[in-house]
Amino acid sequence: MKRILVTGAKGMLGRDLMDILHSSFSPDEVIGWDIEEIDIRKEDDTVAKIETLRPKVVIHLAAYTDVDGCESDQKRAFAVNAEGTRHVALAASKCRAKMIYLSTDYVFDGEKREPYLESDVPRPLNVYGHSKLKGEQYVQEGGKDFLIVRTQWLYGPFGKNFVDSILRQAGEKKALFIVNDQTGSPTYTVDLAKAISVLIQLDVRGIFHVANSDLCTWYTFGQAILNFSGVSQVKVIPISTKELGRPAARPSYSVLDCQKLKKETGSTMRPWSEALKDYLSAGRRLSIDRGRSVTM
Ligand SMILES: NC(=O)c1ccc[n+]([C@@H]2O[C@H](COP(=O)([O-])OP(=O)(O)OC[C@H]3O[C@@H](n4cnc5c(N)ncnc54)[C@H](OP(=O)(O)O)[C@@H]3O)[C@@H](O)[C@H]2O)c1
Repeated sequence: MKRILVTGAKGMLGRDLMDILHSSFSPDEVIGWDIEEIDIRKEDDTVAKIETLRPKVVIHLAAYTDVDGCESDQKRAFAVNAEGTRHVALAASKCRAKMIYLSTDYVFDGEKREPYLESDVPRPLNVYGHSKLKGEQYVQEGGKDFLIVRTQWLYGPFGKNFVDSILRQAGEKKALFIVNDQTGSPTYTVDLAKAISVLIQLDVRGIFHVANSDLCTWYTFGQAILNFSGVSQVKVIPISTKELGRPAARPSYSVLDCQKLKKETGSTMRPWSEALKDYLSAGRRLSIDRGRSVTM
């Protein structure tokens, strides 16, 4: 039996990953914990609880993911994303479990103008990126049996995300101002969860970049969200990152090269536009199912 523990199991990616793992492995092999079960900031508790469970694989998603919040609460960012990861990696190593860690494109500075390779040197621009990179370093210090999955621009049915935010604002405003000088690849949590499940089954190690294919800016992504939803009455106006004035600096280009993933799995993740269409149709069904009003 391959007991798999997921931390951050109630988060946006966590919920989709739990569903996918339950369909790929026997349900009692997969255990999901969130902050109610384990606060990863507490070293002794974290190590003791994981040691008692004795998992064979630990998929560590738990994180403080508010990128702007990390700027004003650096202590929490490092306590959760860096030290918390050290605690989970220590527990995994004591159990001789494989450690899988979710990391981010924000470990890069965005100076490159072609997709970032796994071997490119990270240089984060913001506190979130620094704290996640420190987490990567702790995972690598914990031994050789690790997998670091760097991903980006996530959206999915179980968390606050850009797609839902654009649709909500389109219902309230006549014009939307969206940043047009950051380039990346929006990634659907369902597709990412499937890719992680495949990587577990292939038992690969090292760092992998995993994202939907093709690239866009937040502005072109926003336009696609509205087009695919049949919204034509809302004007979309491109602005710069500087004009938006968010607290955390963000890389202007953070496309991830996913060739290593293709080589290992034999397939490329579908283009973000295809994944977005799926999400939008599934999202509408969900809204109706829950008896809430449909966004548009
Ligand atoms: N979202 C993105 O665009 C993105 C991009 C690249 C990489 N990632 C990485 O992918 C992973 C999953 O992201 P996500 O968007 O699904 O995140 P998320 O929705 O914020 O989920 C993270 C989960 O971790 C929990 N958590 C926070 N502090 C904790 C603690 N001290 N102990 C235990 N659990 C704690 C959160 O609980 P609360 O909600 O109660 O705080 C939440 O349920 C993260 O590692 C993130 O860094 C995300």
